[in-house]
Amino acid sequence: MSDLFSKFDPLIETREQLLATGLTDPFGLVMEEVISPTVAICNGKRTILLGTYNYMGMTFDPDVVAAGKKALDEFGSGTTGSRVLNGTYSGHKACEEALKDFYGTDHAMVFSTGYQANLGVISTIAGKDDYIILDIDSHASIYDGCKMGDAQIVPFRHNDIEALEKRLKRIPEGAGKLVVLEGVYSMLGDVAPLKEMVAVSKANGAMVLVDEAHSMGFIGENGRGVAEAQGILDQVDFIIGTFSKSVGTVGGFCVSNHPKFEILRLVCRPYVFTASLPPSVVATAATSIRKLMNSADKRAHLWENSKRLHAGLRQLGFQLGTDEPQSAIIAVIMPDLEKGAAMWEALLNEGLYVNLARPPATPAGMTLLRCSLCALHTEDQVGEILEMFAAAGRATGCIS
Ligand SMILES: Cc1ncc(COP(=O)(O)O)c(C=O)c1O
Repeated sequence: MSDLFSKFDPLIETREQLLATGLTDPFGLVMEEVISPTVAICNGKRTILLGTYNYMGMTFDPDVVAAGKKALDEFGSGTTGSRVLNGTYSGHKACEEALKDFYGTDHAMVFSTGYQANLGVISTIAGKDDYIILDIDSHASIYDGCKMGDAQIVPFRHNDIEALEKRLKRIPEGAGKLVVLEGVYSMLGDVAPLKEMVAVSKANGAMVLVDEAHSMGFIGENGRGVAEAQGILDQVDFIIGTFSKSVGTVGGFCVSNHPKFEILRLVCRPYVFTASLPPSVVATAATSIRKLMNSADKRAHLWENSKRLHAGLRQLGFQLGTDEPQSAIIAVIMPDLEKGAAMWEALLNEGLYVNLARPPATPAGMTLLRCSLCALHTEDQVGEILEMFAAAGRATGCIS
């Protein structure tokens, strides 16, 4: 019998070698207590959180928490059913109404996760004989959506408008084309040139789907994302998003003005063949989304935090993923996995949690320390964070 697990041997070996040095497992951290969106207790120690997706700090918002508790009391702990059977409660409809109001679209469909939203929408709308043209740095859920469908996959170089245009022009005339882009790319925190890319896509007869997972709530005047910030929201055919980042809970969605959009509720397998979100979750999501509509002050503060952290890290001598801060994600580039893991642990010992990211999640084989800021980080906390980076960076030899 051949062992089906032997394919994991290289990964097991790399991991064992790393842990044999005495390093704390960077992928096994436990949040023992969560005090606020920016502070938790890890290994018994007060730790500033700089590696969550809680961009707008909604997880402890009193209105959000109260809405969840009320729904739990009134509707119970779960729906025990698919959206198309017994799993659509008034809360799911209210959540979809909140999304339609947030984006100003005709349709909104809530999925159980953002992963499933990409999986479902991409695999359902781009079928056999269609083409999906996607940025090579796309999220795993986009790739998995492509794999699940039968369309031809045409990747292009990250954020390269000309490469996108070239690929589009090579596709047979009359074929169905879906261009898949992200607003903010989550590894380096860089923003897509959506305006130009959407123009090129439309000129070549393609529909466009934009995943705004990391921009919703923060980027754009009303927090509608990069498409709003670049003035092309009305030209995007499908926006995918998640509740697991700025919204502060779990779930995913797609919004659209396509007149036939509602048929997806019957043909999209990751929507049909899974249980719907619990009532408490959709209640927290709907409340959070409505509050995000009026959060201009928080958005402004988050931009200040992002600029302050980017400038401070650069001044300390770290190499960053972008020349300018473009989002709430600031990626610190590490020379290799060993140094990255050592730096990650040194930061944790200082009392700071960031994400250690490595291939295949990262582009170009990079090891990154991904810092994601929250609108509730105070100016003092950002100062503390920079002091911790300075101390850990010197202790590990990452900076001099
Ligand atoms: C770009 C992007 N799309 C989709 C998702 C999936 O979101 P969810 O956590 O809701 O499954 C993520 C999550 O990290 C993401 O980064």
